Amino acid sequence: MLPSIQSSLKLHLWIAIKTNFAAYIHEEGTLRKSHISLLILSQYKGSLQHTKTRVKYSYCPACNKTTKDYGGKKHTYHEYGTLISDVWRDIEFDPDQGIGSIVDRLSDLFGLDPYRDLFSIDSQDLLEFFEDTSSPLVEELDFNLKTDVQVSGHLSSHLINDDCIKALHRLPDNSIDFCFADPPYNLKKKYDRWDDSLESTQYFEWCDRWLSEMYRVLKPGHTLAVLNIPHWVVRHYQFLASRMQFQAWIAWEGLSFPVRLIMPAHYAILCFSKGYPRSLPGLSSTENSYLQPLGENYCLRSRCVSKRNALGASDRTAISDIWHDIHRLKHNSRRVDHPCQLPPLLMRRLFELFTAPDEIILDCFNGAGTSTLVAHQLHRRFIGIELSKQYHEIALARHRQLEEGGDPFAKVNAIPKAKNSPVERLVKQKYQVSKKTLQLEVKRISKEIGHLASRDEVEKLSQFSITYFDEYFSSWGEVCAAARTTGMAEVPQKTVQLDD
Ligand SMILES: C[S@@+](CC[C@H](N)C(=O)[O-])C[C@H]1O[C@@H](n2cnc3c(N)ncnc32)[C@H](O)[C@@H]1O
Repeated sequence: MLPSIQSSLKLHLWIAIKTNFAAYIHEEGTLRKSHISLLILSQYKGSLQHTKTRVKYSYCPACNKTTKDYGGKKHTYHEYGTLISDVWRDIEFDPDQGIGSIVDRLSDLFGLDPYRDLFSIDSQDLLEFFEDTSSPLVEELDFNLKTDVQVSGHLSSHLINDDCIKALHRLPDNSIDFCFADPPYNLKKKYDRWDDSLESTQYFEWCDRWLSEMYRVLKPGHTLAVLNIPHWVVRHYQFLASRMQFQAWIAWEGLSFPVRLIMPAHYAILCFSKGYPRSLPGLSSTENSYLQPLGENYCLRSRCVSKRNALGASDRTAISDIWHDIHRLKHNSRRVDHPCQLPPLLMRRLFELFTAPDEIILDCFNGAGTSTLVAHQLHRRFIGIELSKQYHEIALARHRQLEEGGDPFAKVNAIPKAKNSPVERLVKQKYQVSKKTLQLEVKRISKEIGHLASRDEVEKLSQFSITYFDEYFSSWGEVCAAARTTGMAEVPQKTVQLDD
């Protein structure tokens, strides 16, 4: 349906909204459905205009501290709450209750009622109208499906330094238990060998080529999963749906940086099976803690986690298609020299869910080896393909480390050269005065003079040398971060007890 709409409207946002999963019929051996998607489109082709909307901070039911991962920067956050992201878990959609909570949120965002009208139609009524979704591209490709050919013998684990399409050509049909792809997202990242700024038609033509190869090598009944931003995943869906069976759209809330008014936190993991899907191997046992995500709002503070474990607190919930408890790798101490590595926990959950021990996993964009290393740790066989020699060698070295009994995901002291943000990295230094103290100083001065302090004013009025402000921050905006906000409360406001 989406491609037909997109010729006249621009897709601005793809939002995942948590649902009451009891409302959906759940088939044994499949991933429970617990989110729906809200698409925001407009005729306006520029960037989306909407109100700055905040959602209340959430607090851990065990320690009562906020679940916001503020990394020691709570003085720079807003007391009213955190900026909204493209995964909404603070409201819950219940088909039996209607769309009231979603309409309220849209009204806040777009200044609707009482100023504008909201016209609502049920898209179920339009389905017939949008029946034909096949794209010419899909027709042109020959998938070369030979479901009757089974590979005899075992493929052994390999790391391959080559272009993925060339390397995939060398793999036999129906030989892989789980295909995974975390391709370059075409968002102008700086890779060693890859140009990440292709024309979108060129990008998708290329994606279709490796997707069809992955499909060919996948065993019947098994899963192909591709991780990308939702806007691109829609296009992958369109391509795969004509040949494979849709299994799941996992909304991974990767918690990103508070940029833009609606933070982009939603990464989609699109799962299709080759023919009728087998029962997911990970769902046959309930023992595995990686397949039991953290319950809503429980925090990840190690002290709180240990206390909960010691008390045997029931802080886990059933796995579904919305994953919120695995963060992107943000700290340099956990990263190697690659601009965008996935968190090992994410790979662990995926592999434990979709594969059994000794099965073979393929990652055709293996980067610094996150997938193959996790597969190795979980006693799965693996094939990791990577174009860049530099990244391939990093992966090889980490596998060697693992074989020698080391931990390739352990914290490191060295600062990686590769970056995934355009902001220049400052030289690591020992601070004479903490950055927090300096930001609070600017807040004090701004309050005193009645407006956001400029550099000249801080130079004149601060008890600290201006060189600290110049050297410790990457921009004046960062210096003023606390002055622009009120700072958040660590503990929730006391709730008023109402008498019966
Ligand atoms: C998003 S990163 C994957 C990161 C990986 N998941 C990790 O955690 O390290 C995409 C990777 O694909 C690689 N790549 C780009 N084009 C490729 C191609 N044609 N064949 C194989 N790898 C390619 C890039 O060098 C980059 O390392």
